Amino acid sequence: MQLISTVEDLRTARRGLTGKAGFVPTMGALHQGHASLVRQSVAENDLTFVSIFVNPTQFGPNEDLDKYPRTFEADVALLESLGVDFLFAPNVADIYPKGEAQISFQIRDLDKVLCGASRPGHMNGVVQVVSILFHLVQPDKAYFGQKDYQQFLILKTMATELHMPVQVVPCPIVREPDGLAMSSRNRYLGREEREQALFLSRLIQAIQQQRGQWTSLAQIQEFAAAELSQYPLVRLDYLEVLDGRSLKPLHDLSPESHPHIFVAAFLGTTRLIDNAPLWNDR
Ligand code: PAJ
Repeated sequence: MQLISTVEDLRTARRGLTGKAGFVPTMGALHQGHASLVRQSVAENDLTFVSIFVNPTQFGPNEDLDKYPRTFEADVALLESLGVDFLFAPNVADIYPKGEAQISFQIRDLDKVLCGASRPGHMNGVVQVVSILFHLVQPDKAYFGQKDYQQFLILKTMATELHMPVQVVPCPIVREPDGLAMSSRNRYLGREEREQALFLSRLIQAIQQQRGQWTSLAQIQEFAAAELSQYPLVRLDYLEVLDGRSLKPLHDLSPESHPHIFVAAFLGTTRLIDNAPLWNDR
């Protein structure tokens, strides 16, 4: 695996390459969720690029940018073992040489709900950095986890609307054996918080199990509020059921309407998310 840390070196390396290129953008602190994306890329392409870049423009002022976990040596070893060809790990000044960039993107509707609403500016920062990375890496396919479902949908829309020659590929959520969706932020959790973090995946499962019986979103939200009473360490950020294709509100919860369950919750200061379709089991 070739380690590349500057934009210039990436351009030089990219210039001479032929064959299909797969790309997995990450912020490091890698786990088996990231590894599953990398495996899929290695299987489907001639070359695989991974990036590790903790992108400051997608963090809010009171978020965890400074303490975001960094495990670079272990990440390198994992990526090496998975057969990655190029690891691009630039500094902030390489990507944003003038500090704050003058050019940014607006997202019309897709970020007015869910994490886009809870974390103002977050999705704009994601679109900004991923568009920069796509221009530099020039992948044929780029792989994103459905754990960050809204992020995937926005980036797929970006690639389509900007006619980028890249296929944005969704990958299934990888979970711990007890159901918790893997996340770099899980390592922030204390023992009791880790136990109560099961609220998210259990709630989704319980909602799915009663899928034929729900008459409205309000009824599901009442159910969630009652469940929450068993998890005193959990502070619910949102529980929504939206159209999984457009993130628009639903008039009914039938399979034809593609209802998709989204949950976000805080355990202390750690914010976790999870999601699943109402009608298809995970
Ligand atoms: P990061 O949180 O490091 O995630 C990198 C990729 O791994 C994302 O596509 C994410 O959805 C995927 N991923 C994380 N946990 C997963 C899990 N349990 N199962 C499957 N996939 C999982 O998402 C980002 O970084 C950043 O926003 C980024 C796209 C790199 C832009 O900065």
